[in-house]
Amino acid sequence: MNVPQHISIIMDGNGRWAKQRGLDRVQGHIEGVKSVRAVTEKCVELGVKYLSLYAFSEENWNRPTEEVGALMSLLAKCMIQEYDTLMDNGVRFRVLGNRSRLSPDLDEAITNLEKATENNPNTTMLIMLSYSGKWDILQAAKKLAGRKPEEITMEAIDDALVTAGIPDPELLIRTSGEQRISNYMLWQTAYTEFVFTDTLWPDFRKDSLMAAIEEYSRRDRRFGKVK
Ligand code: FPP
Repeated sequence: MNVPQHISIIMDGNGRWAKQRGLDRVQGHIEGVKSVRAVTEKCVELGVKYLSLYAFSEENWNRPTEEVGALMSLLAKCMIQEYDTLMDNGVRFRVLGNRSRLSPDLDEAITNLEKATENNPNTTMLIMLSYSGKWDILQAAKKLAGRKPEEITMEAIDDALVTAGIPDPELLIRTSGEQRISNYMLWQTAYTEFVFTDTLWPDFRKDSLMAAIEEYSRRDRRFGKVK
């Protein structure tokens, strides 16, 4: 089996999972955290170097205030609760996105966890938070403004994105039957293989990840060339 070095996931369907059970949407997010844990552990086991997870888009700030608040508190709680699991599994934790929109308390808690886990040798978990692909390209363009045209190369753009230094994902999984990119990593997914599954995120566990990797392994990646 061909295991990617960077797997990215658009975790979708928490709300529908909760609705099917007559529960509050937040219960779906809580159950979704268990999937995050399971998938992260599997990535460590498989030796995946990077696992990026789309946790909250720039557009998600427009959700009802109560849901935004509940998601942010859930995240803050997870960062305390999951500390031991991250350390035991040697997982490095990083958050990428428009951090200026986060509360100063949450931002500080994130920075502390990033520092505490920075030497962990196994999978790097990238939580894409307050992130959108167009925002990422825009902030990169602002960083490059003022440079000479010949200095603005593909590599310079790569290095100005929040994912600087991280290889592009070879595999992007989207759960819950939706088949679109939803303003996610637009630049970084130029040659990424997409795997869509009907499974709702709270039901996506280790076996679902293995099935997605197996599907990826069967793909013939040509990068626009003839093989
Ligand atoms: C999509 O489901 C999910 C989200 C917007 C949030 C994802 C958050 C978590 C899994 C929990 C916290 C994350 C981490 C990394 C600890 P949806 O609400 O859009 O579902 P729907 O499409 O069915 O309404």
